[in-house]
Amino acid sequence: MIELRNVSFSYEGSANRALDDVCLSIAPGEFVGVIGPAGAGKTTLMHTLSGIVPHVRRGDFFGSASVAGLDTVTSTVAELSKTVGCVFQDVESQFVTTMVEDEILFALENFSIPRDEIPERVDRALSDLDIADLRSRSLSSLSGGQKQKVALAAALALSPNVLALDEATGELDPASSVQVFTLLSQLRRERNTTVIVVEQKIMLLSAFADRLIVMDQGSIAIDDPVRQTLERPGRLLELGVNCPRVTTLAARLRDKGLYHGAPPINLDEAETMARGILR
Ligand SMILES: Nc1ncnc2c1ncn2[C@@H]1O[C@H](COP(=O)(O)OP(=O)(O)OP(=O)(O)O)[C@@H](O)[C@H]1O
Ligand SMILES: [Mg+2]
Repeated sequence: MIELRNVSFSYEGSANRALDDVCLSIAPGEFVGVIGPAGAGKTTLMHTLSGIVPHVRRGDFFGSASVAGLDTVTSTVAELSKTVGCVFQDVESQFVTTMVEDEILFALENFSIPRDEIPERVDRALSDLDIADLRSRSLSSLSGGQKQKVALAAALALSPNVLALDEATGELDPASSVQVFTLLSQLRRERNTTVIVVEQKIMLLSAFADRLIVMDQGSIAIDDPVRQTLERPGRLLELGVNCPRVTTLAARLRDKGLYHGAPPINLDEAETMARGILR
């Protein structure tokens, strides 16, 4: 579904490689989390999937990237956007209209979705994100979190094969963030949507993703199943990523010989660990 072979990229005018020899393969229906410190190349990676890099953000691109069989360098951003739904880190920069409903309609009308399907898709996207009450609002009147929900609704309304979200829950409250991740899980289960999310909230990623990619200075430093990644809290810290607190606690308890199981990656597992120790 997604295949990057030795991709390197430097932005025009910059001597540094924002991506440095990245190899990545993601299967249909996978849910992949991407994390890493500021400037690690996460946004550049997401822009590579959508073709923004190198078509809009220009520079020197080496290697090859394909998404659902489309070569991202020889395809246009418009062609790619039928397959890859995106929410940008800078959400405002992706709005093309001024009103909430228009923003969702714009996407649907531009992707030749059959006319009779459109009203239902708009309703569904608004209700999925719990923003039906914002339908007639102007985008400029919304809070940051509300804007993120509109951008998510516009992306989801298209039912793309791939969803690429760049810190798309950064301004949402914890309950809304969980709601969005639950929705993403449902999409991959029901429609085999491939989900790739850049996200700083590692607990959230750990609870929902299959695989965790840690980026560092333009490269992929770790690319393993979530549990395996979290089993190396020291390495994560070196890379500037904090482990979930329950995982750090488990590592300490293991060091002291009090716990011998796998690191818990969600609250339910943490509860099981605590009960086992207290028994
Ligand atoms: N438009 C640009 N022109 C030149 N350099 C850029 C541009 N955008 C990003 N960079 C540089 O490319 C590198 C990777 O940036 P990128 O935005 O992909 O990192 P990131 O992991 O998304 O960071 P953050 O956590 O801050 O969002 C950084 O060194 C950054 O300074
Ligand atoms: Mg970024």
